[in-house]
Amino acid sequence: EGSKSFTKEICDAARIPTAKWERFDAIAPALEFVRRRGAPIVIKADGLAAGKGVVVAQSVAEAEDAIRAMMEDETLGAAGRSVVIEECLTGDEVSLFAFCAGETAVLIGAAQDHKRIGEGDTGPNTGGMGAVSPPAGFDRATQDAALDLLVRPMLAEMVRRGTPFRGVIFAGLMLTEDGPKLIEYNVRLGDPEAQALLIRLQSDLLPALASVADGTLDAADIRFSDEHSVSIVLAARGYPGRPAAGGVIEDIEAAAALPGVAVFHAGTRRDDAGRLVAA
Ligand code: AMP
Ligand code: GLY
Repeated sequence: EGSKSFTKEICDAARIPTAKWERFDAIAPALEFVRRRGAPIVIKADGLAAGKGVVVAQSVAEAEDAIRAMMEDETLGAAGRSVVIEECLTGDEVSLFAFCAGETAVLIGAAQDHKRIGEGDTGPNTGGMGAVSPPAGFDRATQDAALDLLVRPMLAEMVRRGTPFRGVIFAGLMLTEDGPKLIEYNVRLGDPEAQALLIRLQSDLLPALASVADGTLDAADIRFSDEHSVSIVLAARGYPGRPAAGGVIEDIEAAAALPGVAVFHAGTRRDDAGRLVAA
């Protein structure tokens, strides 16, 4: 998550399918590269940019603007001093999750989040308005194959480098015509993906996490149900710009009492009268 070019180097070293890429530390060769390659093309700030570091440019002019903004105007600060320029992939985007320790990976499942605020996938991006698990057409066998192709070789490469990874891997991938390709690795469960994934966990979460931390994941008892799940975010009016605080949330107990439903809170509180409100 901290460096796009580090991810790409690991992919190349481990022969993991990913978009063709090149890294630039100076603006002139970056501009020259996009003029030569043409659009569509993807411009990425190398460092962390709070979700604003990727521009999927539909024209060369848009790509040039993105490069100038990142490298000349430094709109993303230090994160944009280096850029990664990538081939533009097309296909469905899905996310794959696994508990990992050394070379061991245990599949958690797959999910697809929906980032835009509006009905029908419209409006500005959010942290995620909901997630479906598993995504349509990404069944267990396909997930296992993607784990072998896109995650296990990365774990082996990290071991080879003397920096074994322990934690959760959240692999973002694109299902292209040439098979699944890696977009990025995150080292956490997503939000709202975690809610859709973990509700299917039948064994205890804490011993699973402990086994990741102490390297005994091989022997851990981790079981998930095959049921499908969906998480839906209810946000205060104004989200993601300036969400209004104080709105009263009613009937949450009735929702939580429905079979198969769990309610998770984030940014809620009780007011002086004991009512649940958005905060
Ligand atoms: P990232 O921050 O790496 O997850 O990228 C943000 C989003 O940009 C991804 O979720 C994709 O929708 C899109 N994206 C990233 N890389 C590519 C690529 N090589 N081709 C097409 N879309 C991409
Ligand atoms: N929902 C996307 C993320 O947690 O990164």
